[in-house]
Amino acid sequence: MIVNITELKRQAAEKAVELVQSGMVIGLGTGSTAVHAVRAIGRLLKSGELQNIVAIPTSEVTAREAESLQIPLVTFDSHPEIDITIDGADEVASNLDVIKGLGGALLREKIVAAASKRFVIVADHTKRVTQLASKAPVPVEVISFAERPVADYLASLGALVVKRLDGKRPFRTDENNIILDCHLPPLTNPQQMAEAILKQPGVVEHGLFLNMATDAILATPDGIEHLGRE
Ligand code: A5P
Repeated sequence: MIVNITELKRQAAEKAVELVQSGMVIGLGTGSTAVHAVRAIGRLLKSGELQNIVAIPTSEVTAREAESLQIPLVTFDSHPEIDITIDGADEVASNLDVIKGLGGALLREKIVAAASKRFVIVADHTKRVTQLASKAPVPVEVISFAERPVADYLASLGALVVKRLDGKRPFRTDENNIILDCHLPPLTNPQQMAEAILKQPGVVEHGLFLNMATDAILATPDGIEHLGRE
């Protein structure tokens, strides 16, 4: 069977949008899957099926997309608590731990996720893994000044460290930091790795989102799977 991954991403994202209700504060994710949720929310607002929605975007790219759809954007100053955030992932483990950040927005994504009552991951079935870091690197956002000591430290943890580029230049995040992608063996203890990464000064955040997602909506060629945290 020929499976169109873009279509699966859209199905997962639009299924998640069914959880959104009028009056909610929504966290808007970043990436090629989450954008389908942003567009669906925009359509429902326009048609009047959703009303009184406000949103906090996880990146400048998503902010621009939301603005183009007339989704009202707010900040934590006025709305410190988010009802539901819908965002993509690069790897999804069966306990709902995920790796995020291949799109470079992991820092704002983690801040938004941490402020969310419900954090819903949307993905196609190819993102599912038994152990995190099986396929994707763990992205680490780093202050540029600290690049060398952080890279050396990450290598000492067993990572093959690759500085992310944007063409020939270093990739810069929305906070003007760099990203070091850490290729690691599949993680038997992601929590231990997450804690170790954060110990080095200059590390801003990493893409291991552990014990944060409340739901994962995965689109497969055989239908939608909705996993929930007990
Ligand atoms: C953005 O920084 C990321 O965390 C994305 O959410 C993640 O990379 C998934 O992106 P896609 O939906 O484009 O695969």
